[in-house]
Amino acid sequence: MLHRPYQEKDFIPRSTPELYLDNWNGETYAPSNIALIKYWGKSGLQIPMNASLSFLLPQSITRTRAKATLLKQPAGRVLFNFRFQGAENPDFNRKIAAFFDRISVFMPFLPYYKWEFESTNNFPHSAGIASSASGFGALAKLLIDFEKALYPHAGPDYLYRKTSFIARLGSGSAARSVTGPVSVWGSHPDIPGSNDLYAIDFPFEIHQNFGQVTDLILLLEKEKKEVSSTQGHALIDTHPFKKSRIEQARQHLSGLSASLQTGDWEQFGKITETEALTLHAMMMTSDPYYILMQPSTLRWIKQIWDLRKSTGIPVYFTLDAGANLHIIYPTSYEKRIFDNLEEISQTDKLLNRIEIIPRNSD
Ligand code: PMV
Repeated sequence: MLHRPYQEKDFIPRSTPELYLDNWNGETYAPSNIALIKYWGKSGLQIPMNASLSFLLPQSITRTRAKATLLKQPAGRVLFNFRFQGAENPDFNRKIAAFFDRISVFMPFLPYYKWEFESTNNFPHSAGIASSASGFGALAKLLIDFEKALYPHAGPDYLYRKTSFIARLGSGSAARSVTGPVSVWGSHPDIPGSNDLYAIDFPFEIHQNFGQVTDLILLLEKEKKEVSSTQGHALIDTHPFKKSRIEQARQHLSGLSASLQTGDWEQFGKITETEALTLHAMMMTSDPYYILMQPSTLRWIKQIWDLRKSTGIPVYFTLDAGANLHIIYPTSYEKRIFDNLEEISQTDKLLNRIEIIPRNSD
């Protein structure tokens, strides 16, 4: 059945909660994701310049616990205490305060409570692995669980869409961490139901050649990156290649969608690598320009290209906004890849197994 997108106003509750609980405890987790078609450039409140497509990274997760206590009087804004890996972090506090300000119109019941959050990642944050995606994904899931507790009659489809909508208001890429394993966020003519407000599950059947995919992240750089994604997005507004980038991303998403459906790894890999290089080329040609790759990133790219050329193994790379390299391949080729790239065993890495179960047509 074709999904008709919700509009922003649909996410504003029409009535006060059916009940106010005195206390509420919740716990959930969300995985990170890696964009194959990149979201780079936005307007307003996280409205993407182009549609993006991603794989969930099921083993790279943020787990968050929440405790809500009813206040005697609602506060003027959401009162919260947020601990990440056991400690407060002023940077996160600022981002989360801005997030609560943005979402309060859609969740007006939040200031009736005092909130305590405890959050942990099982991977390094701010290292070009989308930690804000899993972080805000987990937060959005928790808040929607809470909404469900206050509005027990809310429909599952509505809550599912609203989860991604709320996650997006924390961090654009987070919209794609609560759907999947393959998600599309942003309006695209080839993808029915796609829209700018929240991500949807890739709506077509995926070929069995993509049934089991591995994303191996080489942790080449664990320091916080020098230019944040927020700063990077802002530079696209006046970027000389903005118009052609929008057109390129549109065509790439059509091509990637087709390759997932036909099982064409070669086309998939070519588009994926072009997207990664374009993302970084956009950074290198911004004003001011900057480079997030490291010499080791380029060295590894070359090794992957050499391996592909000499063996024909379908092994490709992508990059997030950082120096760490994501190597993507059908899981069945892993042994051959490891045997050929001996250095892999001595390099810090994260393995994510993406299981894409072919859909039954309904
Ligand atoms: O979600 P943000 O605002 O951190 O932006 C993420 C942008 C990229 O990670 C570079 C690409 C993407 O689509 O995830």
